[in-house]
Amino acid sequence: MAQVHLPLAPQRGFGETSRPDNWWVEPLVVFLVLSSFLVYVNWAVLQGEHFEHGNYLSPVYSPVLWGDSKHAWFGQGKPPFWPSFLLYTPAMLALVGPGGFRFTCYYYRGSYYKSFWASPPGCAVGKPHKTYTGERAFPLIMQNLHRYFMYVTLLYLPILFHDAWLAMWFENPVTHVEEFGIGVGTLVILANATFLSLYQFSCHSFRHVVGGFKDILSRSPVRKTLYDCASALNCNHQKYAWTSLVWVAFTDVYVRMCSMGVWTDLRIL
Ligand code: FES
Repeated sequence: MAQVHLPLAPQRGFGETSRPDNWWVEPLVVFLVLSSFLVYVNWAVLQGEHFEHGNYLSPVYSPVLWGDSKHAWFGQGKPPFWPSFLLYTPAMLALVGPGGFRFTCYYYRGSYYKSFWASPPGCAVGKPHKTYTGERAFPLIMQNLHRYFMYVTLLYLPILFHDAWLAMWFENPVTHVEEFGIGVGTLVILANATFLSLYQFSCHSFRHVVGGFKDILSRSPVRKTLYDCASALNCNHQKYAWTSLVWVAFTDVYVRMCSMGVWTDLRIL
């Protein structure tokens, strides 16, 4: 049978498209939200103070491996390996895993390639670049580390839920004994751990690791169940990505405002 060669679509100039919709709205919103988040989090990382309030700890600083905090795991002050002339805050170590995980996320890559690099600015919209190398060359080949960042951030989830547990124990100002309670901050911190878990378990790499690589999944009932759960969550990965991103920043703001005495944490229980 004779082969039919369809003509290639013509190259479009930057921004050219036959799309009649407002295709530029989504990349613009992504650009504004992501830029605002990056500016705020970088500022928060450099502060090194007001990241805890009583039993509350900001997720931007969790875990505190070294630092002047009652939450510190290994000691006060700077880590022993940290150059003395360099500024240090606990968030600089705490954010390595989650930062790498989010930066290399398949969903975010699609979003920020469009919004920040116009590569392309939208589906079926002309881009400014002439060549396309994909993610096969440095530095974008590093995006393939996503799977490994996913393994690292799995370790953060129990830590974040432990932070939520600690946020339920308040020191009695008279007896100095810790008592169970729930404040608005407890709910904020618990919601943060929950949103980050939904983001983690809806990850494409997580879905692949729990069962996506198997040829005949039905022969592994446990994997099949995990895969079905991850697949169901995966449908909403975009929503979890944005909810968890905004909530991490809000949780830091909440703890910071309480610590600075600007906001008062209301006790519910
Ligand atoms: S694909 Fe988004 S976190 Fe893995």
